[in-house]
Amino acid sequence: MTPDFPFSYGEFYGAYSERQKAQGAAYYQALGIAIEDFDERQSAIRKNLEFFGAPHVCLLFMPEFHSVRIAGDVGMYGQTFLLALAAHGLGGVPQTLLGFFADTAREVLGIDPAMKMLFGISFGYPDTTSAASRYRIEKAPVDETVTFHQ
Ligand SMILES: Cc1cc2nc3c(=O)[nH]c(=O)nc-3n(C[C@H](O)[C@H](O)[C@H](O)COP(=O)(O)O)c2cc1C
Repeated sequence: MTPDFPFSYGEFYGAYSERQKAQGAAYYQALGIAIEDFDERQSAIRKNLEFFGAPHVCLLFMPEFHSVRIAGDVGMYGQTFLLALAAHGLGGVPQTLLGFFADTAREVLGIDPAMKMLFGISFGYPDTTSAASRYRIEKAPVDETVTFHQ
C-alpha cells in the first residue's frame, strides 16, 4: 500500500470514534457478517478494490505541497460530484481506501507523480436490492453537530 496521506482510525476521537464504530457495526450487520469474523470482514473490505461492482471510478488528486485548504476544495468537488450523480439517478461510493493504492493508480494511468491521491468515488446505477445499498446509518441530530450563535 502506498497512501499519499496518512490514515489512522486513531484520528477519530470521542463522539467521532463512537460514530465510526457504530457505522462499522451497522454495515457488517446489514451484510450479515459477525463483527468477530475477521476473514469475512476482510473479504468485504476487499470489495473496495472491485469498486463494489460499479463500472466506473473517479479518482481525485491534488498537487503535492498544496495546503489542507486545497484538500477541502477537492472534498467539495467530490460532494458536488456525488450530488450530480444522484440528480441523474446514479449512485457513488466515496472510498478513502482507494487512495491507499496511489502508486498503482499513477502507474496504470500515467499520472504525474507530483499529483497526490486523496480518495476515489466508484459510480454507476445503484443496485437498490443489495444489502449494502439498503442499509442506512443514523445521522447525528443537527443540535449535536452545530453550535448556533445569536
Ligand atoms: C470521504 C469518505 C470516504 C469513505 N471511504 C470509504 C471506503 O474507503 N470504503 C468504504 O467501504 N466506505 C467508505 N466510506 C463510507 C461509504 O462510502 C458511505 O458513505 C457509507 O456507507 C454511508 O453512506 P451515506 O453517507 O450515504 O449514509 C466513505 C465515506 C466518505 C464520506
